[in-house]
Amino acid sequence: MSDYTPLRAIPETAGYKPGDCLVLIGELFGRGYANGLIEEARRLGMTVIGTTVGRRDSDGTLRCLTPEELADAEALLGGGAIINVPLEAGFDMETPDGEPSVAERLKKVKPDEWESVSFDDEFISRARELGRVRFMANLARVMTELETLIPAGANVIFAHTMAGGIPRARVFMPLLNRVFKGSGDKYLPSAPFWQSGLGKLCDASFNEVTGDTLRHLITASAALRERLTAAGGRVAYTAYGYHGTGILRNGSFAWQSYTPYLQGYAKMLLEDHAKAARSQGINATVFNCPEILTNSSALFLGVEISLYPLLQAIRAEVDDGAAALETRCAALLADGATLAGLLEEANRYLTAPLITDALSFDTWPQHSTKEQMELMLATSNRLMEMHADQKQLVCAELSKVVFRATGHLMVQTAWSCAEPTLWLNHDIIARLAATRPEIIQP
Ligand SMILES: NC(=O)c1ccc[n+]([C@@H]2O[C@H](COP(=O)([O-])OP(=O)(O)OC[C@H]3O[C@@H](n4cnc5c(N)ncnc54)[C@H](O)[C@@H]3O)[C@@H](O)[C@H]2O)c1
Repeated sequence: MSDYTPLRAIPETAGYKPGDCLVLIGELFGRGYANGLIEEARRLGMTVIGTTVGRRDSDGTLRCLTPEELADAEALLGGGAIINVPLEAGFDMETPDGEPSVAERLKKVKPDEWESVSFDDEFISRARELGRVRFMANLARVMTELETLIPAGANVIFAHTMAGGIPRARVFMPLLNRVFKGSGDKYLPSAPFWQSGLGKLCDASFNEVTGDTLRHLITASAALRERLTAAGGRVAYTAYGYHGTGILRNGSFAWQSYTPYLQGYAKMLLEDHAKAARSQGINATVFNCPEILTNSSALFLGVEISLYPLLQAIRAEVDDGAAALETRCAALLADGATLAGLLEEANRYLTAPLITDALSFDTWPQHSTKEQMELMLATSNRLMEMHADQKQLVCAELSKVVFRATGHLMVQTAWSCAEPTLWLNHDIIARLAATRPEIIQP
């Protein structure tokens, strides 16, 4: 169990400079959180080094990127080099002793048969071990390449961005859509799903991909870390967590979250790995970040509601720039809709006893209830309908503000951080926007 430790003050200016390196452990995608880290590292003149998750051929073989894929990925990174070694984590495609993989076994399972599926623990642990051995071998290749790319004595941030692990089987999409977006007859409570064989499989897979990869990274980079620090460099590890967010509700900041956040168990494991690293004197921090719209959050609906009050937090802290951001957001609304109406609707949901009573930091993550899911989904839909075009969202505009601000705060804090976990809440993001107005510019 973590203590709730929000970042309360804008960090002192870090000493990162040209020649220092930001190493992304996880592939960069278009809207992804890591874009903010890259922006901040580039602003400081740091060298950005990317990695890739790799790709699977149609026969399931994990491979590096082709020259075209590599060129596209490097262009997305903004020109930096990508170490072309597939860093996919997880075990769903592993075939221990030639036995069919998890993905293969699930191929014929129909969505209505989900309760009858189960996996032998012993098989899962052998598959998990195989996946881990592959991931560690590939991480070791990445470290070998980093030895040649990072100058002696440079300061380095290893930025863990990985999260995922939904096993690749068709049965999961309809099922998870029911768990995360289902209302009426389609609603599937998260608790029985999580306790089922498929839920237990997800738990193991999320732990491996979202949680344990940080521990593997810290282990695999030990020799490089020692060489860099012996030559006078600082080495920090950052990871993106989620464990609820402090937002403005009824005019004051309070912690909130949503249900069901089934990755929450793996995110707490991620925090545990940062704590274990700290106990060995390693500078590792999980930065618990707000809900935003990215490729990874596209599976969920309603989690974005807590992003709207960021507008009010920014208005309270920033003068002129806030008006420009609000004008940009207001221009995205449908005829007749107003920002005030949008914020009222979001606040009504965020302060509804049905939602607030169901959530508690100490027992997080909570499972879903039908009434609470239905209120979340209906509110999300009403807020979407207030937009002129549901592909141009106020939350996309605000997501950009959040990934930029968190990128700045993570890089600056990493320099001399002493905490294993820090929450980057809406208040600190708004306060940063007051001192770094470019964060809220288009
Ligand atoms: N989007 C949000 O609301 C939100 C909120 C708080 C924290 N986060 C965290 O931010 C981080 C980045 O996520 P994002 O939202 O920017 O989405 P994203 O889809 O851009 O990034 C997800 C990352 O996970 C990696 N990944 C996925 N499956 C993997 C696997 N099997 N093996 C190795 N890597 C794998 C991807 O390569 C990518 O780097 C994640 O840790 C996520 O949990 C996201």
